[in-house]
Amino acid sequence: MPRPAVNVAVRAARAAGNIIQRYMNRVDSLIVEEKSRLDFVTEVDRLAEAEIVKELKRAFPDHAILGEESGQIGKSNKVWVVDPLDGTHNYLRGFPHYCISIGFLDHGDPVHGVIYDPLRDELFTASKGDGAFINDRRMRVTKREGLQGAMLCTGFPFRQREHLDAQLGMTRALLGQAEDIRRTGSAALDLAYVAAGRLDGYFEIGLKPWDMAAGCVIVREAGGHICDFAGREGIPKSGNLIAGNHLLAAAMVKTIAGSAGSALLSA
Ligand code: IPD
Ligand code: CA
Ligand code: CA
Repeated sequence: MPRPAVNVAVRAARAAGNIIQRYMNRVDSLIVEEKSRLDFVTEVDRLAEAEIVKELKRAFPDHAILGEESGQIGKSNKVWVVDPLDGTHNYLRGFPHYCISIGFLDHGDPVHGVIYDPLRDELFTASKGDGAFINDRRMRVTKREGLQGAMLCTGFPFRQREHLDAQLGMTRALLGQAEDIRRTGSAALDLAYVAAGRLDGYFEIGLKPWDMAAGCVIVREAGGHICDFAGREGIPKSGNLIAGNHLLAAAMVKTIAGSAGSALLSA
């Protein structure tokens, strides 16, 4: 049985998903040039986040919310961390990989996570100690014991191009050993896929709290491990994230540490 807080977040995520899908069908008719593209998606982001905030506030008026669009709302040790649309650039192009991500932290400790893919109607949920679920089925990370044969996924630092050399160095080192590496464009949904065993591992430089809060709970509850590039467990303050089962995450830490350019980064 999902906890009541998860049910609220699921309701909020589904409501945001309805908004996102409604506008999806109008992207092409509404958009004529690049600038209006970005304005349009910002508007969809805002509408979706407003819906999520409304649902969360109604159920938990005393909790704080950290939203990608609204910033910090209220002050509390109990914080909902919201990305109303993760995978913006995919959404704008009709590339079918984006999601809504809602995490809940209690005194910084990740407790609940909800990630919703409105295109496939796939719902990924977890609460600390309760396991992780895709729709109503339990999910587990893969058992792969190292990089050999591993399907990894990453995000490129397209907003922080000063990290390109570090990214290319670690991609080269990991791809030298793994089966392959995907870059699909939605960090939150990619983390849900690690939890579901569709990917073995994930790494990205400089993620924001709303990209990873929900995904971190879900990966952990699926038996996985979350750490930074120095192997320190937990949601990384630097945003430099590694996710996978314990053995694979350790192998990724080791390979990244030895890669060209990793010295350019703080862990
Ligand atoms: C982005 C996506 C992308 C990742 C970026 C994120 P947005 O979020 O998750 O895959 O590589 O780091 O910022 O902008 O689509 O919400
Ligand atoms: Ca995001
Ligand atoms: Ca976003």
